[in-house]
Amino acid sequence: MNRREKEQYLREYAVLKSKGKPFFPYVVAKDGGMVIVVIGTILTLSYLLGGTIASKADPTTTTWVPRPEWYYYFVFELLRVVKPSSITPLATVGIPTIALLLLLLLPFYDRSPERHPLRRPVATTAGVLTILAMAYLTWMGAEGGAPSSIDMKTPPSIVKEGGAQLALYEYGKEVIPSSGCLACHKIGENGNPGPGPNLTRIADRLPEAGIAQTLRNPTAPMPSFKNLPPQQFKAVVNYLSTLTKEHEEEK
Ligand code: HEC
Repeated sequence: MNRREKEQYLREYAVLKSKGKPFFPYVVAKDGGMVIVVIGTILTLSYLLGGTIASKADPTTTTWVPRPEWYYYFVFELLRVVKPSSITPLATVGIPTIALLLLLLLPFYDRSPERHPLRRPVATTAGVLTILAMAYLTWMGAEGGAPSSIDMKTPPSIVKEGGAQLALYEYGKEVIPSSGCLACHKIGENGNPGPGPNLTRIADRLPEAGIAQTLRNPTAPMPSFKNLPPQQFKAVVNYLSTLTKEHEEEK
């Protein structure tokens, strides 16, 4: 903003101020009205929908998977997207800090007198892109499953069978994440997309014997799992041999 612009601004400001309305009661009434609307909305929602209190904290649990609050999903997703551990601090602390600093320093590097969003294309584009990126990451973070479990519904046919078959199925579903398969494979929404192929529909490509064969004699970099305890090995092979297209669509 140069001197001429500054003077023009001050003139306009003086004119507007002389035509203006006092803070009290106009602005106070406007703000007060908005406060009543917001509190009223919260009260109505809590009356109609109610709030829930989660179960009591259990310090001895080993199976609970921590999830952030929804408004932190975007940072959570950044943590999941950025794999190499050497740069995760940069992604999770660095990027938000840089963004915050840019925002704090805005009055110093953006000296344009323009206020209309359409006449500030750079600032407007940057702002819209930031909001879109955060919205996308939030959505991805909310959708993504934990790396320590497989979130796929048990097909009704297996539920119906019940007994030993169902128990073996459930056991396999636990053994796979705890054996580290999800570090290299994706199953449903869980796990990593590489280096191994997606196993969500593995049973459509490989018969049970082929799956067992792969586990005993895999191609590098996949390690051999022939030394898994037999019951676990059987459960893993059994679980994978249920993973078909129909299974995936069971949501
Ligand atoms: C270090 C990474 C890694 C780990 C851990 C790993 N795999 Fe693999 N897996 C691979 C790679 C890479 C391939 C592809 C090998 C090939 O193309 O022959 C593969 C292939 C497979 C295949 C055959 C897929 C196909 O489409 O033919 C199956 C089944 C499989 N893995 C199951 C498992 C199971 C079950 C576990 C855990 C018990 C596991 N993998 C752990 C990397 C891994």
